Amino acid sequence: MKRVFALFFSPTGGTGKVVKSMARSFAVASGCDYSEIDVTLPGKRESAPRFGADDVVFFGVPVYIGRVPNLIRPFFASIKGCRAIAGTVDGVIDGSGNGVKDGAVGIPVVTYGNRAYDDALIELRDIMEQNGFRTIAAAAFPAEHSFSTTLAGGRPNENDLQLAENFGRKIAEILTKNPHYICNAHTPIAVPGNPPPYSYYKAVINNNKSIDIRKVKPLTDTLKCTGCGLCARLCPMGSINISDPSIVDGICIKCGACIKRCPKGAKSITDPDYLEHKRLLEAEFGNIVRKAELFYTI
Ligand SMILES: Cc1cc2nc3c(=O)[nH]c(=O)nc-3n(C[C@H](O)[C@H](O)[C@H](O)COP(=O)(O)O)c2cc1C
Ligand code: SF4
Ligand code: SF4
Repeated sequence: MKRVFALFFSPTGGTGKVVKSMARSFAVASGCDYSEIDVTLPGKRESAPRFGADDVVFFGVPVYIGRVPNLIRPFFASIKGCRAIAGTVDGVIDGSGNGVKDGAVGIPVVTYGNRAYDDALIELRDIMEQNGFRTIAAAAFPAEHSFSTTLAGGRPNENDLQLAENFGRKIAEILTKNPHYICNAHTPIAVPGNPPPYSYYKAVINNNKSIDIRKVKPLTDTLKCTGCGLCARLCPMGSINISDPSIVDGICIKCGACIKRCPKGAKSITDPDYLEHKRLLEAEFGNIVRKAELFYTI
């Protein structure tokens, strides 16, 4: 155990804040070297990081419709937690990761916008285990919803980040005090959620009409937009045209980065189904105060 990583996909920053707090406090408590790997932008996902036995990886992703973000999942599934071992395919012994002896320690972390994290945490845990990580702890944190400023508005807040720091320290303490904790038969950390096939959340609006917002894209108020190009540089899908930022010529995952981070407030989604879905979410979950959930066994 020599290096600790905060690895994250975080279009609007909530997930990044949580895993960075965890991994930094782990580093201080354990004396490991600390690094950040931010895979939010497409350029950072051109090649997948690979980890090994000396590494501890806090891996954070946001929950999208109850799951790991589906368009980024193939990239997440290419991140290996162990080096190739004789008799294995690319370092992976079997689907559960059982028996992998030189995998990195993995801590799957999801953030969600106050509704629910459904099967996302178990899915992320399974992705990591299948790639040779040994998951020994996990966490789910509320964080401001990508669609809204009131659903988990302002979170992660100071208390959340304090909890994240304490969690990082706790994991360092477990691993330092119990060096054999991960060496013998490894059981993936138990987390809530259903085994495969994982379920997507089915968003419905009035009269139980299901909504399909896959083709919805943000619009740009050209009177407000200065053409600074920030939104194009921040888009995790590389979908905003840098020469004309009012053009979204690729896939939009509704991550909210361009809308929330435009300095002029020039981007918005005006699709009626999207707005109604957002209104219903805010009405149902806006006043609930969710607590972070932490999972570890010692
Ligand atoms: C397409 C999409 C679907 C989402 N689905 C859910 C969901 O099922 N449950 C939930 O509570 N939050 C959901 N969210 C909110 C995000 O999980 C939450 O805002 C997350 O913390 C954003 O992380 P970031 O700040 O790192 O981008 C969704 C967000 C998007 C963009
Ligand atoms: S960040 Fe806002 S102001 Fe800058 S180009 Fe994009 S829409 Fe225009
Ligand atoms: S265009 Fe879509 S995917 Fe790109 S930053 Fe905006 S909301 Fe996110």
